[in-house]
Amino acid sequence: MFYFDVQRITFLLSAHFFNGWKYYLCGMISEQFFLPKYEPKVPQSQTVIWSAPSNIALVKYWGKKPVQLPANASVSFTLSNCKTITEVTFSAKKQKNQLYSFDILVDEVYKESFRPKIESFFDKAQEYLPFLSLGHFQIRTTNTFPHSSGIASSASGMAALALCLMSIEKSIDPTISEDFFLAKASFLARLGSGSACRSIEGSIVAWGSHPAVPNSSDLFGVALNRPWHVFFEKYQDTILIVEEGQKQVSSSTGHELMHNHPFGQQRFEQAQSNLSHLITAMTQGDLDEFITIVESEALTLHAMMMTSNPAYLLMQPATLSIIKAVWDFRKSTQIPLCFTLDAGANVHLLYPKSAKSEVLAFIEEELVVYCENGRYICDEVGEGSIRLNDYPN
Ligand code: DP6
Repeated sequence: MFYFDVQRITFLLSAHFFNGWKYYLCGMISEQFFLPKYEPKVPQSQTVIWSAPSNIALVKYWGKKPVQLPANASVSFTLSNCKTITEVTFSAKKQKNQLYSFDILVDEVYKESFRPKIESFFDKAQEYLPFLSLGHFQIRTTNTFPHSSGIASSASGMAALALCLMSIEKSIDPTISEDFFLAKASFLARLGSGSACRSIEGSIVAWGSHPAVPNSSDLFGVALNRPWHVFFEKYQDTILIVEEGQKQVSSSTGHELMHNHPFGQQRFEQAQSNLSHLITAMTQGDLDEFITIVESEALTLHAMMMTSNPAYLLMQPATLSIIKAVWDFRKSTQIPLCFTLDAGANVHLLYPKSAKSEVLAFIEEELVVYCENGRYICDEVGEGSIRLNDYPN
């Protein structure tokens, strides 16, 4: 008990008075830090609404340890337009029992297929949010990007849900500070989906313990507030939809296959090293180095899939055609356009805002033919989650 309180007091003090120092203390935080400090209490019935963004990793999280802890540190751009909006209505239960209950509606339609993922999240989160078993939750959620676009919604979805639950917790314990709120929201989101912990704040977020990121932790994501080079302001991400719909192999299966992977250990070490070099490149505005690391991370992620047992492929022929066209375009124009991939066939094109008109013309002329139904989504680096209703409502 004393230990937990020391952690919390240190965190609160450091958050308020030693802003520059607090980050050196985050590495000391353990799971117990996020256990509730209040007496078990039923929150009042209420509705909270949060919008949380998607994110695209530059250094990839691929491989994990129990419980949802990353095998290496990762870093991502928070997006601006691709987001999930979630409304949670909490109604206090009349009868007391030990089980939580919820309904899940996606685009106003009950979606039983989402239930197992949310149940697994609630199971893991219950210890940290004891009020989960004291009420019924109606969860209504919608994405600003089409479900069929092949863009994973688990990061933004779990982040939005975690933020709603944190707002309910804050109604029980109003002493919760802004820093603690964000850190615990990220911690909870991680329990639902690892990459979701990077979808709470903007605009560049790291997750996983790393010596070059003084505030880093395996337990939650932290926004990197260093002065980035001006090139990275409102950096653009245009997502080329090569394949609509659900991917054939889930990320969870992919992470699983990193256990005993023949190149696993080297990969985890490479990611740690890439993260250090990427931060330096982004601080100095070294776009060549940025591009080298980001593209290598994307190709290595897929190389891991191709060399796992069983092996599998998520790239499509169109993915490779786009990559080759991007390389040719960059060589002939010197425009610093590069690509990254997540665990699917779609391609994220990353480039400075100053190159927007040339890149969009290139996409229209040469790349749109590779997109399913000619679809692509224009996004850019954004500022993070937003609460969409006031409390109390
Ligand atoms: C390739 O976060 O979707 O997008 O923790 O099992 O939910 P779970 O996996 P998830 O994995 C994301 C993998 C990635 C890389 C990344 O976002 O860092």
